[in-house]
Amino acid sequence: MSQPDVMDDRSLNGNILIVDDKADNLRLLSRMLGQRGYEVRSAISGSAALMAVRALPPDLILLDINMPAMNGYQVCEELKACEQTGAIPIIFLSALSDTADKVKAFRIGGADYITKPFQVEEVLARVENQLTLRQMQLKLQRSNQKLMQEVQQRKRAQDILQDSEAALRQRTQEMEAALEELRLTQMQLVQSEKMSSLGQLVAGVAHEINNPINFIHGNLRPARDYAEHLLMLIQAYQKSAPTPPELQAQMDSIDLDFVKQDLPQLLESMQVGIDRIMGIIRSLRTFSRLDEADIKTVDLHDGLDSTLMILSNRLKQEDNSDGVEIVKCYGDLPRVECYPGQLNQVFMNILTNALDAIEDENSQRLAQGRSPQLGQITISTRITEAQTVQISILDNGPGMPDSVQQRLFDPFFTTKPIGRGTGLGMSISYRIITERHRGTLSCTSTLGQGTEFVITIPLQQSQSQPQSLTMHGREEAGLSPEPC
Ligand SMILES: Nc1ncnc2c1ncn2[C@@H]1O[C@H](COP(=O)(O)OP(=O)(O)OP(=O)(O)O)[C@@H](O)[C@H]1O
Ligand SMILES: [Mg+2]
Repeated sequence: MSQPDVMDDRSLNGNILIVDDKADNLRLLSRMLGQRGYEVRSAISGSAALMAVRALPPDLILLDINMPAMNGYQVCEELKACEQTGAIPIIFLSALSDTADKVKAFRIGGADYITKPFQVEEVLARVENQLTLRQMQLKLQRSNQKLMQEVQQRKRAQDILQDSEAALRQRTQEMEAALEELRLTQMQLVQSEKMSSLGQLVAGVAHEINNPINFIHGNLRPARDYAEHLLMLIQAYQKSAPTPPELQAQMDSIDLDFVKQDLPQLLESMQVGIDRIMGIIRSLRTFSRLDEADIKTVDLHDGLDSTLMILSNRLKQEDNSDGVEIVKCYGDLPRVECYPGQLNQVFMNILTNALDAIEDENSQRLAQGRSPQLGQITISTRITEAQTVQISILDNGPGMPDSVQQRLFDPFFTTKPIGRGTGLGMSISYRIITERHRGTLSCTSTLGQGTEFVITIPLQQSQSQPQSLTMHGREEAGLSPEPC
């Protein structure tokens, strides 16, 4: 593309350089071409020709071959070797009519060959032909250049477009991610607000009940002592003096013997009841630590028990056959460093899901006229060889199909009717376990048999290494809980 643009479109009457060592030839050709309107220069030797070309490149050169000092071939070779002059067409003019000479002339870059003595019309026709060719060549070069420029411009524009498309795509992705994060945070807020209100309610109730219960608890022991003393006193009275008839009638009417026997038992069972209520209050208080943000070293079994306490209306109690049975296989756990309120939230989510699944299945069985099956949730805890705590919550509910299992931890995924499930319980639980506690939460479920969630967290948060976050974590070998 570095060919010099030596001629433009303005005319066919180009600038012609005639090179010949014979002055007569030069004159004849100059006159002949000059008459045709060409601009003609002449050079009497090869070296003069080279100088003339370098001073002003012509559009065409008529070059004699046989010249002293520097022949036409040499001049041609030198011009063709130079970038600036290589494209100038050269017509050889020679008395040599041998084919070998002509072939050589073409091989070294000659554009045409005229044998002397020449015919005027032939020379003019060949000159005109070469100039036309040259002009067309230049035109082609120019349009090629233009085309190349256009291609480059288009490529640049395409590159810019691609860059801005990529930037736009990235921006869109960033915005989508931010939106998703926002949605999640919003729903997390709703969930934690829900849990926190539940915690506050529980804390409030526990607090309100605590005072009167403490009052009863505190007075019950002296009340039992007083009753015992009074009964002893009555007994002593009865021994020391015969009972007057009017008192005997009264003693019969209140069935004193029965009262003497029943009162201690009655007070004893009141004591058992009060102890139980105090246990419940303790559990409520443990559970209501929900919104505690700080890391604490706690007994995880307390957290599990307090969550079960909150759910006790849905669980099977000793004195009735309704509700889901809880089987506890608690191992020997040390105290664990964790965010207890958040772990309680996870226990609550998993247990609520298990209860929902079992209850829904039983409702369906009833609707189909079949008898409900005994729902059972087994909670197992243990320390693993890797010094992590493992909590397994296994239910004998309906299990989940693969399609549900695959989306279980996705935010907003729910199979429950609108209003009953937000679809956030498991996704939030997953984040609490994996991000907050650097643990794993995995699920294994078989349709018709039940579901098991396994939580694994390090004993200590500060020294633990972050663990890989597997979405379903089933591939983690050796994590199934020990048999109960
Ligand atoms: N133990 C289980 N047995 C059967 N299906 C379950 C069990 N646990 C979870 N699932 C399924 O996983 C889905 C997602 O549970 P997730 O707790 O995230 O949301 P949800 O319970 O529907 O709503 P919520 O936000 O109120 O908890 C449930 O809708 C249910 O289909
Ligand atoms: Mg749920």
